[in-house]
Amino acid sequence: MLLHAPRHARSTAPTPLGLSDLTALTREIADEVRAGAHLVRVDPERRWYKLLRTDPYVDVWLISWATEQAAELHDHAGSLGALTVVSGSLVEQRWTTEGLRSRSLRAGRSAGFPLGHVHDVGNHEVTPAVSVHAYSPPLTAMSYYAVDDGLRLRRTRSELTGSGSSKGVG
Ligand SMILES: [Fe+2]
Repeated sequence: MLLHAPRHARSTAPTPLGLSDLTALTREIADEVRAGAHLVRVDPERRWYKLLRTDPYVDVWLISWATEQAAELHDHAGSLGALTVVSGSLVEQRWTTEGLRSRSLRAGRSAGFPLGHVHDVGNHEVTPAVSVHAYSPPLTAMSYYAVDDGLRLRRTRSELTGSGSSKGVG
């Protein structure tokens, strides 16, 4: 069982897990992926993802990103999240009070997503990227956004995640 005992409860989210717990979990699973414990596929037609673990508190997804595959600007509804890049390199564009800000997440890097975090993640390199993502409580919905005039965030739609989702996790 990989779920760590929570280091500290967070009263701001409906989960006993904090961002540091989720980050640690993704790093642990990323090590498993590097060790060959999980089959990774890369689909040039659409982003590939697989649910590796799920329980009432957290789910863990393995995602591969072919060149120029991206998640689209989104939030994670009521879930906290974290990712660790297993291989390749991802670029995260996150929404801030000053507009979109970009950061590169190379292999071995991790990032946490607090409640309300709005971001896009994509692979702009020639080589595929692989990442491990954890969400707590398990991800149930995502809203998608557009940026108007570079200044205003506008929600365009919301989708349930899971088998009925056209976009999947990210
Ligand atoms: Fe995300």
